[in-house]
Amino acid sequence: MSQGPSPLQAARLTIASIARLYADGERIAMLTAYDYTTARILDDAGIPMLLVGDSLGQVMLGYDSTVRVTMTEILHHTKAVVRGTRRSLVVADMPFLSYGVTPEASLENAGILMREGGAGAVKLEGGERSARTIETIVRAGIPVMGHIGLTPQSIHQLGGHRVQGKTKEAGRQLLADALAVQQAGAFAMVLELVPEGLAAAITERLKVPTIGIGAGAGCSGQVQVVTDTLGLSAEFTPKHARHYTELYSIIKAAAEAYKDDVAAGTFPGPAESTRMDPATLQEILSSSPLDRPEMAEVSGGIPLDRDL
Ligand code: KIV
Repeated sequence: MSQGPSPLQAARLTIASIARLYADGERIAMLTAYDYTTARILDDAGIPMLLVGDSLGQVMLGYDSTVRVTMTEILHHTKAVVRGTRRSLVVADMPFLSYGVTPEASLENAGILMREGGAGAVKLEGGERSARTIETIVRAGIPVMGHIGLTPQSIHQLGGHRVQGKTKEAGRQLLADALAVQQAGAFAMVLELVPEGLAAAITERLKVPTIGIGAGAGCSGQVQVVTDTLGLSAEFTPKHARHYTELYSIIKAAAEAYKDDVAAGTFPGPAESTRMDPATLQEILSSSPLDRPEMAEVSGGIPLDRDL
């Protein structure tokens, strides 16, 4: 008889579990998630870490950048992802200016994402400049994931989605950023859009995992925006992403088939409909004062152009 998962197997992963994967030399897979249904699938697939990223703004809410995402929005989606998962460690992204203004506000907002949102950790952007903020939050007992390299919340300062750390100064700064984030107590850090050689060298010099996105295979793990991985977006796919399926065309074809079936009257069919005793139906109709031809006139209907 199958004994099912042991209580230990079923428990939600924590940063200690991520540290164990890292210590065992396992490459760590992370995906973004924004909703209950997708989170359930990713959790069932055994993805150990899910990021409620502020990419939410572009891929789910139709904003032009992550800068517009608010605490209320990230909190709302974090709750949904937490409800959809049993095992994955859920990391909530701290929105633009929800941290780094004052230590008090940074801590309060991180606390909201943990206490109200149910996240297991928060993520925030910035290297040396964010070290004190990371330290404040970690000291309060909240696990923090750092994020260096391309930091989308500073896109206006960085001047676009460019690979980071390619010059001597920039590369040295990136290494200093990584060390500062580690020193501040982050349990892991995202390296975004960094040349693979530099990302691998930084990874080798750290004692916490690097989670790369556009940073080559030498990182301790990888993170991707789930809509890129699933081929859900109609337009742009970044160079670093791989479509593991083509959900855009699959969903579009399904929606077109549904539309055609509705138009042809073939949906719903007998299998999707319920039946009742015809005699009862007849009784309902014959005894109802509403079921008279003149009532159709009274109840009106949608006005057509020709009636206006
Ligand atoms: O918001 C996000 O999706 C991210 C990833 C790019 C790491 O921060």
